[in-house]
Amino acid sequence: MSATSDPVHRSELVAIAAERRWAIVVGAILALLVAMMVVTGVHWAAMPPSRVETVDVKTLHVAGEFVESNLGTAVGADGKVTVRLVAQQYSFQPQCIVVPADMPVTFRATSTDAIHGLVIGTTNANTMLVPGFVSTFTTSFHQIGEVLMPCHEYCGVGHEAMWAHVQVLPQSEFLAKSRGVERLSCVAR
Ligand code: CUA
Repeated sequence: MSATSDPVHRSELVAIAAERRWAIVVGAILALLVAMMVVTGVHWAAMPPSRVETVDVKTLHVAGEFVESNLGTAVGADGKVTVRLVAQQYSFQPQCIVVPADMPVTFRATSTDAIHGLVIGTTNANTMLVPGFVSTFTTSFHQIGEVLMPCHEYCGVGHEAMWAHVQVLPQSEFLAKSRGVERLSCVAR
């Protein structure tokens, strides 16, 4: 063993040890990524997002939540406000929706034919309406008055003419109007 070969041999051993450490780190990162993919994949497959709700387009009009008599604004026994509406080429039902100001309002809506959408004035109320699925969101309105609710998803030749009105009433006025009424709307009868 010569005096010069010894330090070279030692640095070689140091390099091998360092490479082994890095190989372990890289292997651990790869294992973690694969484990994350497997866990999230299995999780989503086993538990789809709770917001995905389906509805049968063929029986929408005859039974269930979206029959004509159930559309409009409802105040539940717990005081919660729910608006149910249906979009179709080329209108919304009801055509005029009443909501209270400064109260949480939950929308539940679907489409019977094409993909539609809705946006209420300049508020954050904005969703797509897809046949077979129930779109739902909760929001509050802070500005009293009437705003337009156009369809914002191209749905055919009548798309530009597809909109509804939304009336935001002061809370007291809304509650007075809804008293004894099962489904409220501002459609002229
Ligand atoms: Cu409905 Cu565009």
